[in-house]
This record gives sequence, C-alpha cells and structure tokens, in this order.
Amino acid sequence: MPISLTVLEKIIREAGSLAMRHFKDLENVGVSKKSPRDLVTDADVAVEIYLKEALGKAYPEYGFWGEEGGQSDDLSSRWIVDPIDGTHSFSRGQYFWSISVALEIDQKLVAGAVYAPALDDLYIAAKGSGASKNNKVISVSSESSLADSMIATGFACLRSYLEDNNLNRFARIAQKTTGQRRFGSAAMDLCLVADGQVDAFWEQELNLYDVAAGALIVKEAGGTITDFKGNEGVFPKQILATNGKVFNELLTLM
Ligand code: IPD
Ligand code: CA
Ligand code: CA
Repeated sequence: MPISLTVLEKIIREAGSLAMRHFKDLENVGVSKKSPRDLVTDADVAVEIYLKEALGKAYPEYGFWGEEGGQSDDLSSRWIVDPIDGTHSFSRGQYFWSISVALEIDQKLVAGAVYAPALDDLYIAAKGSGASKNNKVISVSSESSLADSMIATGFACLRSYLEDNNLNRFARIAQKTTGQRRFGSAAMDLCLVADGQVDAFWEQELNLYDVAAGALIVKEAGGTITDFKGNEGVFPKQILATNGKVFNELLTLM
C-alpha cells in the first residue's frame, strides 16, 4: 500500500475542521463566480491550500491536482482533490457537501477518501482492501428491482450549450423507480451508493476530481462504475454507479 489510510484520514479530518470553521462563519466567507453556475468560496481555496501542503509534506513523491489550483507537473502519480464538493450547498449553509481526495498512480486509482464534515461521515477505501464509513465496512445495497429502487443524479449538464441536459433521462427513470434524490455533492452521491443508501447514481459533465475518490469507494464496496453504455471505467463526463443488481435494467433506460 503506497500510503497509510490512517495518515490520509487524519489529514482529511483536519481539512474538515478548517472547512467547518468557515462553514460556521458564512457571513464572513467570500464567494465568487468562476462561471455563471460555478461558485468558489474562501473555504474552497483555504482547504485546497491546506491539503496541498499536508499531503505534500506526508508524501513529497506525489504530484497534486486540485480543482481550484490546477494540475501539478507530475502526471504519473498524483493526488486528485476537490476541496469542497457541493460548494453551492456549502455557501447556503446546507449540510450536504464534502471533501474528496484520491490518489492515482500510473493512471490507476489506488486510494480515496470522501469526508462530509457537517455530517461527520468519512468514507475511505484502498484498492483491493474494501471500503468503510466511519471505520465500519460498507457494501452496496441488495435491491435488485429497479421499480423498488432509489436513485440519485445531478444536473451539472444544465448548461444551455448542452443538448443532453439529463432532464428527459431523469423523467424516464423517475417513472420506473420508487425514490429519486438530488443531493448536491457528486462525491457524496457515489458514497451513498457504496453505503447502500441509494441503489444507483449517474451524472454527466463532471470532472475527475468530483468522482475519483467516490468511484473507487463504490468499486471497493462491490458496486459498478461505468459510462452510460455500460463500459467499465471512470468517465467523469458520463458516470453511472450502481449496486450491480439494478445495472442491466437501468442501462436500458440511460
Ligand atoms: C458540484 C457537485 C454537484 C454537481 C456539480 C459539481 P462543486 O461540485 O459535485 O453535485 O452536480 O456539477 O460541479 O462545483 O461544488 O465542486
Ligand atoms: Ca465538485
Ligand atoms: Ca469543488
């Protein structure tokens, strides 16, 4: 194992404490727009700076790619970080946001952690070693009927320039499922599939930093990670995570 999960957990919890200090003082947190629909706050920037320093000190041999600060030069082994996933939710004082940290070595995801500080839920996994939530082993749900399932999705694609904005797909699938949710943090959506809280999640037009850690956690919890055609792999522009049991039925509706 190229890193210690105990060290990773300690660092992401420290990042969570920093984020919570901002979260409890929202009226003094600066918010700006990166694009018409993308916000960035002082917390996003502060958490990413902290994670870059702490991970760089613990593991100087790895590069760093953060959503706010951009790519490091080392692409062979790097941390892939979303300092606050669900910034809109964070900025409105809602609890459903997370910090996502993944380690990729030679284009393979080897470790990942997603921490929701406001909920104090920490999901973590190492390739081949299973997934856990708050130190308890987790696995995907046993739900095998799509009609009885609960699904989650997001609308990153609700941009006017995109023909496929997920609304028709959502309407199709909503009519064939029991529960539908839009939580607002793709990293957490994936962890809810891993934890059996929802049976499937899909979204388009994301970035690798949104999904890298959560995708590994789903796979280590026994779930599937594919594109909308069922091709195995992590495709941020078209990610579909399932418990495996509703996969075939859901694929016909994607
Ligand atoms: C966002 C969240 C959200 C998804 C958006 C992402 P951000 O991440 O993951 O669930 O629907 O497309 O941009 O921007 O808050 O890091
Ligand atoms: Ca994100
Ligand atoms: Ca973010």
